[in-house]
Amino acid sequence: MQKSHSEPIDSNITSGENKSFWVASAEPIVFNKLQQDIETDVLIVGGGIAGLTTAYCLVKAGRQVVLVEDGYVGSGETGRTTAHITYALDDRYFELEKIFGEEKARLAADSHMAALEWVGNTIMHENIECHFKRVDGYLFLHPTDKKESLEKEYAATQRAGLPTQMLAQIPSIAAEEGNSCIQFPQQGQFHIMKYLKGLSDAVIRMGGKIYTETKAEDITKEGATANGFEIKANHIVVATNTPINDRVTMHTKQWPYRTYVIAAKVPKGKLTYSLWWDTGDQESKWTSAPYHYVRLEEYDNEFDLLISGGEDHKTGQADDEHIPEEDRYINLIEWTKKRFPAMEEVAYKWSGQVMEPVDSMAFIGKNPGDDNIYIITGDSGNGMTHGTLGGIILTDIITGKENPWVDFYSPSRITLKTTGDYLHEVGNMVAQLVDWITPSDIKKAEELKPGEGGIISAGLKKIAAYRDEENNLHTCTAVCPHLGGILQWNAEEKSFDCPLHGSRFTTEGKVINGPAKSDLKKLEIKQDAEMH
Ligand SMILES: Cc1cc2nc3c(=O)[nH]c(=O)nc-3n(C[C@H](O)[C@H](O)[C@H](O)COP(=O)(O)OP(=O)(O)OC[C@H]3O[C@@H](n4cnc5c(N)ncnc54)[C@H](O)[C@@H]3O)c2cc1C
Ligand code: FES
Repeated sequence: MQKSHSEPIDSNITSGENKSFWVASAEPIVFNKLQQDIETDVLIVGGGIAGLTTAYCLVKAGRQVVLVEDGYVGSGETGRTTAHITYALDDRYFELEKIFGEEKARLAADSHMAALEWVGNTIMHENIECHFKRVDGYLFLHPTDKKESLEKEYAATQRAGLPTQMLAQIPSIAAEEGNSCIQFPQQGQFHIMKYLKGLSDAVIRMGGKIYTETKAEDITKEGATANGFEIKANHIVVATNTPINDRVTMHTKQWPYRTYVIAAKVPKGKLTYSLWWDTGDQESKWTSAPYHYVRLEEYDNEFDLLISGGEDHKTGQADDEHIPEEDRYINLIEWTKKRFPAMEEVAYKWSGQVMEPVDSMAFIGKNPGDDNIYIITGDSGNGMTHGTLGGIILTDIITGKENPWVDFYSPSRITLKTTGDYLHEVGNMVAQLVDWITPSDIKKAEELKPGEGGIISAGLKKIAAYRDEENNLHTCTAVCPHLGGILQWNAEEKSFDCPLHGSRFTTEGKVINGPAKSDLKKLEIKQDAEMH
C-alpha cells in the first residue's frame, strides 16, 4: 500500500502556499492512489486527525476500513495546527453552562479529558515517536477582558470537575506581571505529522487500507466514487473538516475563521515547555473573540521553537479590519516578542482555517437525515481533542456500543441559546453577498505582477485572476460554486477564499477546501480585462 518510490512525491501538497513547521520537518505520508473498484464495510473520507483516528478505532474494533484522502495524510488543516491537546476549551466553560447547563458543561470537560488520555495511551501503546509531552497550560486575561471573567471561568471549571488552580502569576511571562491565571495541569502537545504517521502505520498493520491523492465524489448511502472508481460501503464517514456531502444544513451552524501562526527560535532551556492562552479580544468585531495560543516544540540542539498563534478573522474578510493577511504576522510577532523577549529569528509562518460552531461544540454523529453517513466537523480551535473524540464516538455508534457523549455532539442537536450572536454571523453572511455590487480590489489584470492575484470586475462578472511567476494569466469565475459567494484573494496563502462558508481554491481554481465540491469554471480573457 505504501507508495512505490518510482512514483513522484510532491512534498508541496498542503492547503496553502506557506508550509507549517510540521509539514516541513517530516516526510510526506503517502500511499498509493485508488486504481480499481473496491468494497468495504466502512469508507472514511479525509486523512486528517479526525479521519485517521476514526480509521484506527474502527480497524482496532475489527471492522474493515478504507480511508481515502485527496492530498496526502495530514495535508489539510491538521498539518497546519499548533497541536495543543487540551481540555481548556477555546470557548469558556461559564459560557457552555449558559448554553447547555452545568451537567452538559461537565460532559464537555469529561469528553475532552478522555480524548487527551486516549491520545497519551495510544502513543504509548503504539510506541509512536512524536515528541509527546504532558505540560501545564495557563489561561490569562486579554487586556480587554475583565478580571471577573477569569474568576467566573475558574469557578465553572471547578464545577465541571476539572483539576484547575488559580495562580497569582503567569509562569514565564514577565510582561504580564501582577496578572493571575488559571492553571490546567498535565495537558498535552506533540508533533502532529509524526503522530499521524504512527496512526497510519498502525491502521495498515491491523489491515486497514489508505489511499492518498484519491478524491471522493458523489457520496451516497451506497458509498462514493473516487478517481473514477466505485467504492461500495455499509457506512460512510465524512471527515473532510467541513462536510462535502451536505449543501446547506451544516453550513448554517458554523463559520470559517482564518488563524495565523509564527514559529521563532528560542535558546533551549530559556522557557519551560507549557501552553499559554489569553482569553481573547473582547472588543473584536468578530463573534469568536480572537485569542493568542503559544507553546514550545523541540527544534535542534541549540534551539526550541516558540510557536505562537492568533490574529484570527473571518475567512476572506481580513480587510474589514484594515489589517491585510500579511500584517497579521507582524502583529503576532510584536505580541509574542513583548511577552517572550527571549525569542529570536522567526523560522516559519503559516495560517489555516478553523470552523467555529454556533454553540461552541463540534458536530459528531449521523449526518442529519442520513442513517449510515456520519460527519465530524465544527472542530473550532480544539480539533486535536474534537477530532479524537470524532473517532471514539463514531466507532461506538457504528459498532453499537453505548457512549455518553452521542447526544451532546449530535449534528442534529437543537441549541436554544448560543454564544456570541447568531444573528450577527447571519448578518455578516448577508453582507458578503453585497460584494456583488461593491467595487472590487483591482481594475485590470494588467495591474497584477508575477505571483499576484486579485478579483476583477468586468460588467456583471467577477473574475478570480492570478499571474504566475512565468507571467501567464489564469482566470476563473470568482463566484463560489457552493452557494454563490464572491471569492476574496488571500495574498499570504495564495488562494481564493470564500467568505460565506470557507471554500478555498488554488490560484488556478482547483478546490482545496469544501463545502464546494467542484473547481472554479475557467474564463478566457482575450486581453486584460476583456472578458468572454
Ligand atoms: C493554525 C491552526 C492552529 C490550530 N491549533 C490547534 C491546537 O493547538 N489545538 C487543537 O486542538 N486544534 C487546533 N487547531 C484545529 C485543528 O488543527 C483542526 O481542527 C484539525 O486538525 C482538523 O482536523 P480534521 O481531520 O477535521 O480536518 P483536516 O485535517 O482538514 O482533514 C480533512 C482532510 O480531508 C481531505 N479531503 C477533503 N475533501 C476530500 C475529498 N473529497 N476526498 C478525499 N479527501 C478529502 C482534505 O484533503 C484533508 O486532508 C488549529 C487549527 C489551525 C488552522
Ligand atoms: S463556501 Fe458556501 S458560498 Fe462559498
